Amino acid sequence: MSKQGSRHRGSGRWWVISLVVVIILPLLARVCNAAPSTCSTGDSEALLIFKAGFNDPGNILATWVNDTNCCSWTGVVCDSSGRVIKLSVLSPPPQRGQPLVRNPSFSGVVGASLGSLTALQSLDLANVNFSGSPMPNEWGELVNLNSLQLIATRLGGRLPRAIGKLVLLKSLNIAGNFRPHPLPAEICQLTQLQTVDVEGNLFTGSLPACITAWKNVSTIRFSVNDLSGPIPPFLGDLATLTLLDLSNNHFSGEIPSALAKLPNLQFLLLSENRLTGQIPPALGMIAPLFSLSLSQNLLSGSIPPSLGNLQNLFGLDLSANHLSGTIPAELGNLKALKSLTLYSNRLTGSIPPELGNLSQQGVDIDLSNNFLSGSIPPSLGNLVQSSLTASNNRLTGEFPVGLLKLSSVVLSHNLLSSLTPTVPLPNSNQTYVFLLHLDYNHFTGPFPNWLSNLSQANEILLNNNFLTGSIPVSLLILPQLNFLNLSSNPLATKLPTATFTSNVGSLDVHSSGLYGPITSKFLSSFPNLFQLFLQHNHLSGPLPADIGSALKHMTSTLDLSYNDLTGSVPSSISNLTFSTSLDLSHNHFIGPVPHIP
Ligand SMILES: *[C@@H]1O[C@H](CO)[C@@H](O)[C@H](O)[C@H]1NC(C)=O
Ligand SMILES: *[C@@H]1O[C@H](CO)[C@@H](O)[C@H](O)[C@H]1NC(C)=O
Ligand SMILES: *[C@@H]1O[C@H](CO)[C@@H](O)[C@H](O)[C@H]1NC(C)=O
Ligand SMILES: *[C@@H]1O[C@H](CO)[C@@H](O)[C@H](O)[C@H]1NC(C)=O
Ligand SMILES: *[C@@H]1O[C@H](CO)[C@@H](O)[C@H](O)[C@H]1NC(C)=O
Ligand SMILES: *[C@@H]1O[C@H](CO)[C@@H](O)[C@H](O)[C@H]1NC(C)=O
Ligand SMILES: *[C@@H]1O[C@H](CO)[C@@H](O)[C@H](O)[C@H]1NC(C)=O
Ligand SMILES: *[C@@H]1O[C@H](CO)[C@@H](O)[C@H](O)[C@H]1NC(C)=O
Repeated sequence: MSKQGSRHRGSGRWWVISLVVVIILPLLARVCNAAPSTCSTGDSEALLIFKAGFNDPGNILATWVNDTNCCSWTGVVCDSSGRVIKLSVLSPPPQRGQPLVRNPSFSGVVGASLGSLTALQSLDLANVNFSGSPMPNEWGELVNLNSLQLIATRLGGRLPRAIGKLVLLKSLNIAGNFRPHPLPAEICQLTQLQTVDVEGNLFTGSLPACITAWKNVSTIRFSVNDLSGPIPPFLGDLATLTLLDLSNNHFSGEIPSALAKLPNLQFLLLSENRLTGQIPPALGMIAPLFSLSLSQNLLSGSIPPSLGNLQNLFGLDLSANHLSGTIPAELGNLKALKSLTLYSNRLTGSIPPELGNLSQQGVDIDLSNNFLSGSIPPSLGNLVQSSLTASNNRLTGEFPVGLLKLSSVVLSHNLLSSLTPTVPLPNSNQTYVFLLHLDYNHFTGPFPNWLSNLSQANEILLNNNFLTGSIPVSLLILPQLNFLNLSSNPLATKLPTATFTSNVGSLDVHSSGLYGPITSKFLSSFPNLFQLFLQHNHLSGPLPADIGSALKHMTSTLDLSYNDLTGSVPSSISNLTFSTSLDLSHNHFIGPVPHIP
């Protein structure tokens, strides 16, 4: 209004005045805050009694001294009349490996005196150690409280019925407290609640129907308790709910379709329960849904195609259930999806090509431990710098080289048979693959040329296939390669004789029909080698005399057992620094074995 007025008058005067008001008023407010009102005597006494019952090794309440103004004490905020309206005792969360003694704890009576701070609106005692004492009934007198934060305070006993008197409470966080007992029905009297977090308590029994009185609730976190019985359909009446977390309890029965009535739900977290039946197709109607986690239940039937409607879905976790049927192509419509977790189910059919339509970068897909068959759709190569895990399935056919654009590809224990691409390779600068696990498949023939283009590859597993022929030096010299497992292939070849330098640290080519000598040149091509497995081959001839210096970086294992090695064991072997093991058994060595320190 003043903006328009100033324009019409053609002067900046009104502007200036309103600016002055805008700047000065907050300054005044700050000055007022800086001079605290004088603490009410009763509140001061209550705080001192609270302090007296407190072990405070870190002396965090040092400013709490009798006959000083409590409104200026650490963690205390007063209103203009000197009543304490906010109390927060900031104790650090316990740190791993650090002594816990700096956390204040209560001895004897637990803060009952705080019950007389009747003007209190906000009480935060997170991480204060109540050593198993119950919450004082006196706190029921804090009828003006709108925020009660008691995270990890080790309150024992039961949540007192007096909690029902705190009718203005909007935020209740009592995660990590209490002994086993049912939720007191009085909790339903807190009709203003917006956030309820009771994670990690030992609440038993079923969810009381009276919680439908929480007409304005947005967050309900009941995870990690011992709640049981069905997930009640009345939860679908809490229209303001954005987060419902019932995970890690003993809920049983079916997921009620009524939850689909929740128009604002973003998080539906029901994992680690005993839920049975099918996933209700209606869940696909919860448009704002961001995270749906139903893992580790006993859900059966197929994945509803309607879930593909969830345009805001970021994470979908249906793992470790009894889901069957095929993966719906509609899941490829989930444009916001970053994580698709379907492992350990009974899914059949082939991987839908539409999954290649998932977000272009950085999606995490885990389809392992299912009964998926057919070939891998080349469209998955669109998922640049993503992660695909589909081990322990029955996938067949060609390895689609487009997958080399992903950063992690784990296809172990399948029936894939061809590494020879029928389509063009991605450009070398698009082969982002860091982890490539193709072990335990049915690959035959020589090592494919494209292996030499994997400039980012750190770990390549090709063991337990039917690969034949020589080990390409171009593979060994990949700049980032650290871990290479080629074992249990019928290679029937000699070790490479070319001159090269490899960064590989762990090389396993055991049980692969290797023959011929182990040369000094070969061993000294691996300056970073820390373990070498060449057992169960037909390697022959003497060991190189300088084996000890050639393998001076060896720290873990050298296994040359079950070969046809001959001659004496070179004395240089004694200055290897083996921290784990050296196995030269089952060869044809003669003479003494050098002393190994
Ligand atoms: C605080 O001091 C007053 C006298 O100034 C005394 O009456 C009261 O008992 C003291 N309170 C505590 C908790 O020490
Ligand atoms: C809490 O306090 C009790 C008794 O004072 C003590 O035995 C316990 O170790 C404390 N727990 C932590 C985590 O500080
Ligand atoms: C519900 O909560 C919102 C804030 O999330 C608040 O603005 C509103 O006044 C509350 N309504 C009722 C009826 O308590
Ligand atoms: C989704 O993927 C399929 C198969 O890969 C493709 O034919 C279709 O055009 C894609 N749709 C969109 C919207 O990208
Ligand atoms: C793969 O690498 C070889 C040799 O390093 C190179 O000649 C070839 O162009 C590369 N292929 C692609 C598709 O980048
Ligand atoms: C790959 O790198 C070459 C040379 O650095 C560049 O000309 C080419 O555009 C790059 N290709 C892609 C797809 O980034
Ligand atoms: C290579 O794979 C085989 C088969 O899984 C395994 O037994 C062996 O330990 C692996 N080698 C290394 C160095 O991990
Ligand atoms: C290793 O052992 C040999 C023979 O015992 C010895 O001559 C040599 O100095 C040692 N050091 C290296 C690095 O080979």
